Amino acid sequence: MLAIIGGSGLYSLGDDFELEEQALRATPWGDTSADILLGRWNGIPLAFLPRHGPGHRVPPHQVNYRANIWALKQLGVARIIAVNAVGGITADSPPLTLAVPDQIIDYSSGREHTFFDGGDDQVSHVDFSWPYSATLRGILLEAGLQLGQPLLASATYGSTNGPRLETAAEITRMRQDGCNLVGMTGMPETVLARELEIDYACLALVVNWAAGVEDKIISMQEILANVEQGMRRVKALLLVAAGLVEQ
Ligand code: HPA
Repeated sequence: MLAIIGGSGLYSLGDDFELEEQALRATPWGDTSADILLGRWNGIPLAFLPRHGPGHRVPPHQVNYRANIWALKQLGVARIIAVNAVGGITADSPPLTLAVPDQIIDYSSGREHTFFDGGDDQVSHVDFSWPYSATLRGILLEAGLQLGQPLLASATYGSTNGPRLETAAEITRMRQDGCNLVGMTGMPETVLARELEIDYACLALVVNWAAGVEDKIISMQEILANVEQGMRRVKALLLVAAGLVEQ
């Protein structure tokens, strides 16, 4: 089964999602951000989980990423498309860009970032050279083509801790590191999916220029307006992509 993890601005799939079952939150790692919704979207079976909980109450550094990914695996999820609102760092990533990252750099800290925590299990080091699923990335890019919706087909996502935004100097450093995008929720979600052998791809919506790219401060108003505008396109793209995953 396919799961969609909704980020900022994507708290539901809308009226055409037919809910069949609501899965409980508890896992050995604690509670998920919200009940997981199982149902059909235009006839396509899928699971939906809003990462920040209903009404966006869970900040990025407090999301229980392990519970979320674990619960999806228990429900039989084999593929995840994650939606993330991000800032744009490079000239190819202005606000309202939709991007399908192919690399990620982890700048986060202090988060529970692995299922392999020692104890009874043997130590395991997963390969993470190419962090995103080539198949799912291909499906997202194909959906973009079918909709005539341009997508940034290659990008590096820099994942910061938040909840504060970055300094201009931090963004300069991230640009030098090769980051195109900056967000707060890419890690450890991406690696936890890999640890549980779930195919995972990210659809990132740029909602602001990152700190210092423009000579002004970043306003929440601007971010929210872009989230609202962009999420309509995100949903349209997800619907086509979900259909392609099923084929
Ligand atoms: N930085 C980090 N995370 C974000 C940003 C940003 O500029 N915009 C949306 N999420």
